[in-house]
Amino acid sequence: MATILGLESSCDETAAAIVRSDRTILSHALAGQEDHHRAFGGVVPEIAARAHAELMTPLVETALADAGMTLDDVDAIAATAGPGLIGGVMVGLVTAKALAMAAGKPLVAVNHLEGHALSPRLIDADLEFPYLLLLVSGGHCQLLRVNGIGDYDRLATTIDDAVGEAFDKTAKILGLGFPGGPAVEVTAARGDLNAVPLPRPLKGAAEPHFSFAGLKSAVLRAHESGRYRTEDIAASFQQAVVECLQDRLEYSLDRIDPPAALVVAGGVAANSAIRAMLSDLADRRGMRFVAPPPWLCTDNGAMIAWAGAERFAAGLTDGLDFVARPRWPLDHEAAPARGAGVKA
Ligand code: KG4
Ligand code: ZN
Repeated sequence: MATILGLESSCDETAAAIVRSDRTILSHALAGQEDHHRAFGGVVPEIAARAHAELMTPLVETALADAGMTLDDVDAIAATAGPGLIGGVMVGLVTAKALAMAAGKPLVAVNHLEGHALSPRLIDADLEFPYLLLLVSGGHCQLLRVNGIGDYDRLATTIDDAVGEAFDKTAKILGLGFPGGPAVEVTAARGDLNAVPLPRPLKGAAEPHFSFAGLKSAVLRAHESGRYRTEDIAASFQQAVVECLQDRLEYSLDRIDPPAALVVAGGVAANSAIRAMLSDLADRRGMRFVAPPPWLCTDNGAMIAWAGAERFAAGLTDGLDFVARPRWPLDHEAAPARGAGVKA
C-alpha cells in the first residue's frame, strides 16, 4: 500500500491532497483564485503563478495535518508537471521537487490530463482499462481511448475552442461573471433551451472532431440583438453543446469497437446536463457510465495524487531534473485535427 502526496497548480486552483493506493482520500486541500482574477474576467497567468507560490506551502501543511501525517509517512510526491500555465506548473513542480529532496522520497511528474483521465478509477475500483473517455475542460475537448497508464489513443479533438472555453466566453458575453461554466449552468436552469436558434458546429460532419468557436460567436450575436433573455441564451447554448457532444460521440461510437465503459472527466464534466446526456447515451449503447463527483471533475489535488499512485505502482518515478511542460499531449502520435496551426 502506497501513500501519495499530490500537488496541482496548472491553472487557477492551488491544491494538495493525500491519497492511498487503496483509493482512500486521506485529505484534500484546495484554494481557488477566483477573487484574484474576477476583475480581469479570466485567469491572468502572472497573477496565478504568484498566488500559487503563496498558497502551495500552507496547503501542503494543511493536507498533511488533516491526514495526521508528516512527509516521512508518504511514499512519493506527485505534482502536475504540465500542460498548463507554465508559471503555475513550475511552482507546483518545484515545490514537489524540494519536498522530495528534503524527505528523500521519489518524485512523480504527472500529466494534468492524465490526472483527469485516471480520476474515475479513484472512485470506481471496477473501472478497468480500456475505457472511452470524454475529456472536457477549460483547455481541452477530446475523445480518448484509455488503454492503460500513459497509453492513450486520441479519437477526436476540438478544431478550435475547448468546451470549457466556450462556457467561459458565453458567461463573459452574458455578464454572468467568472468562473463561467457553473454560472452558465445555474442560469440555464431558468431558461428555455429552444428559445434561441444557435448552430450545432460540425453536427453530422464526416469527421470525428469537435468545434465550438461558431457557437460562441452566435451567442454574441444573439446577445447583441437584444431579442432574447439571458436565461434563454444560456439554456439554448448549453443545449447546443449537449447536442454537439452527443452527435460527435455517436459518430465515433459507430466506428469503433466500444469498450465496456463510457467515462467523462475534466471540469466541464461537472455539468449535469452533459452528464445526463452521457448517461443516457451509455445506456442506449449498453455501456457502463462512470463520472467522478463534480468536485473531482474540476481541478484538484486528489486526482494528481491518484495518478501519482497509479504511476508509482507501475514503477514510474521521475528525476528531479524533470522540466515543466507547457504543452504535453496524452497521445503523442495523434495527427493535428486539421492541418497545422490548429489548437489541439
Ligand atoms: O478541469 P478544469 O477545472 O481546469 C482545466 O484543466 O481547464 O476545467 C475548468 C473548466 C472551466 O472552463 C469551467 O468553466 C468549466 O470547466 N466548468 C463547467 C462547470 N464547472 C466547471 N462548465 C460547465 N458546467 C459546469 N458546471
Ligand atoms: Zn483540469
